[in-house]
Amino acid sequence: MKTTIAEVGKYVGQEVTIGVWLANKRSSGKIAFLQLRDGTGFIQGVVVKAEVEEEIFNKAKSITQETSLYISGIVREDERSPFGYELGITNIKVITESVDYPITPKEHGTEFLMDHRHLWLRSKRQHAVMKIRNEIIRSTYEFFNNEGFVKVDPPILTGSAPEGTSELFHTKYFDEDAYLSQSGQLYMEAAAMALGKVFSFGPTFRAEKSKTRRHLIEFWMIEPEMAFYEFEDNLKVQEEYVSFIIQNVLENCSLELNTLGRDVAKLEKIKAPFPRITYDEAIKFLHEKGFSEIKWGDDFGAPHETAIAESYEKPVFITHYPTSLKPFYMQPDPNRDDVVLCADLIAPEGYGEIIGGSERIHNAELLKQRIDEHKLDEQAYDWYLQLRKYGSVPHSGFGLGLERTVAWLSGVEHVRETIPFPRLLNRLYP
Ligand code: 4AD
Ligand code: MG
Repeated sequence: MKTTIAEVGKYVGQEVTIGVWLANKRSSGKIAFLQLRDGTGFIQGVVVKAEVEEEIFNKAKSITQETSLYISGIVREDERSPFGYELGITNIKVITESVDYPITPKEHGTEFLMDHRHLWLRSKRQHAVMKIRNEIIRSTYEFFNNEGFVKVDPPILTGSAPEGTSELFHTKYFDEDAYLSQSGQLYMEAAAMALGKVFSFGPTFRAEKSKTRRHLIEFWMIEPEMAFYEFEDNLKVQEEYVSFIIQNVLENCSLELNTLGRDVAKLEKIKAPFPRITYDEAIKFLHEKGFSEIKWGDDFGAPHETAIAESYEKPVFITHYPTSLKPFYMQPDPNRDDVVLCADLIAPEGYGEIIGGSERIHNAELLKQRIDEHKLDEQAYDWYLQLRKYGSVPHSGFGLGLERTVAWLSGVEHVRETIPFPRLLNRLYP
């Protein structure tokens, strides 16, 4: 019976054949333990000299790391393995030999591993992170489909810039100038006026010269936008969405979380509602914690965010930032116009901001004024202003950064491991 590692549980006591690669190997004169992987999972194969033909035992002892094989064996339950099964090998057929595989079981430096990212992806740890990423993607679609959202795909080549112009990737668009999208938000606002509740999920690009464990040049963002949703309604969607993906990762990725040594008790506590503090309260809190240099009107850096997040077990919303710190489109607080109706969601354990969102300005005059104040090209925003001219309504939305969320749930330190082929300040290869 030809099957996969993920499916072996259906064949306990039976002989199966699986196409695999040899991940690792241990052997003595009498027995060989083969760590096998097939993409769906990892399983140990045991070859006992006394139970197989001599030729097979010799093959087991000599095969090299990452050689591809068809392997046959009897499926056995195995309580000692986290996976729960092992294979009593009966036959080994080499497909293609692998010679001098560069990533050996010893420790390698980060740059070496990043240069070999195309191979590094095969490792057990990277496999686990990619599976968790996939589960976040899968449960994102499930959540928004369940809630009646429509998936809308904004363009990647654009003529205007939602988050300010400094971080844009410039390119030629025949005779015109174009930019790679840094956020689909403005288009999603148009889509919300057509379809009510919408979400996008795609790549975004930021030419930021940041070299931190939280920054990628190319990253994936989920951007929901909802007509008739005001500030509070928006926060509710966010906390329910984040709780939903965590619950799904816990349920469907327990093996992967175990492989990564993730402390799941910390994730199990995370259920909506999430705590909230205002920017004003956050400044006061930071002063009390000894960050005396920060003044009202300053943006928070990673150490500030981490200090705030550390006093909560759940992610925390920081709300009502100064207008001067945020993009032009955010709705002012009706009670004081020096702050806006926005919130950043800060993840626990030092993973930083995973969501930025706000209510949007829906008054045409005010929006036009803001576009002027920010010295943006009014013509490029003409279509965006028209959304306010024809039956404008209060609306809100947010953007969740996929890779920061993967890093947090997987418990990996750096976002470079959370995307198959990271684009970093000094890396466009492989
Ligand atoms: O806070 P940001 O810049 O918000 C927006 O782009 C809004 N237009 C979204 C919206 O309201 N529709 O980015 C949103 C999230 C951040 O919270 C962070 O998780 C992630 O995107 N992000 C990055 N992730 C990795 N590398 C970077 N350079 C990132 N910049 C932002
Ligand atoms: Mg932000």
